[in-house]
Amino acid sequence: MIVAITGTPGVGKTSVCSHLRELGFQVIDINKLVSERFHKGFDNKRRCFVADLRKLRRHVKRIHKSAAKEKQDNRRKHILLLDSHISHLLHPDVAIVLRANPLELAERLRRKGFEERKIKENVQAETLDVILVEAVERCKFVYEIDTTGKSVEAVAECVREILSALREHTEERRKEMLAKYEVGGVDWSEYVEDVFAHCDDC
Ligand SMILES: Nc1ncnc2c1ncn2[C@@H]1O[C@H](COP(=O)(O)OP(=O)(O)OP(=O)(O)O)[C@@H](O)[C@H]1O
Ligand SMILES: [Mg+2]
Repeated sequence: MIVAITGTPGVGKTSVCSHLRELGFQVIDINKLVSERFHKGFDNKRRCFVADLRKLRRHVKRIHKSAAKEKQDNRRKHILLLDSHISHLLHPDVAIVLRANPLELAERLRRKGFEERKIKENVQAETLDVILVEAVERCKFVYEIDTTGKSVEAVAECVREILSALREHTEERRKEMLAKYEVGGVDWSEYVEDVFAHCDDC
């Protein structure tokens, strides 16, 4: 099973994936792959590499196939986590979208050293559910985790709960375990006015 850990920059994907890696999960750092090999050049305006999604998808499938073979797992059983805000575009079996309250997200991005323009752009995207909508449009199974006020370890535990629900339980039990992660549980609409106040571009 290929699982995208996605969400707006700053929601904590890499922090959570690092913790899950320590717990024994296989994780691919998609952003690193994009900057090293799987890109179609550098976008000077956005100051980032343009991902080559087609090649990335093939690469991810290959890694998953050979890891499952090595572990003698079937492909459904072997979990490969993809860490990136574009991982939901790579045809995963499941997308888990990490969410963060816009005010808390701004703080996290500030701590991460993002410039104010980028903070504003990402906070607006989070408030409008941009990544969530993209994930729902492309993936059959999508779940959300609200990371607000949760430690990295607690968020990782939520990911593990989703994964174990998907793998091991009866339909009824699965529904019960996944109920709190269903799409629609996170709603930042009360922040829209503040986040878009004095917005020159809209
Ligand atoms: N659950 C959390 N609670 C508080 N702070 C967090 C949490 N998770 C991550 N952080 C902090 O938020 C910042 C962003 O985290 P991280 O780099 O993991 O985000 P990301 O989603 O991988 O971002 P990007 O898309 O830019 O790679 C870091 O400074 C990190 O320490
Ligand atoms: Mg990251």
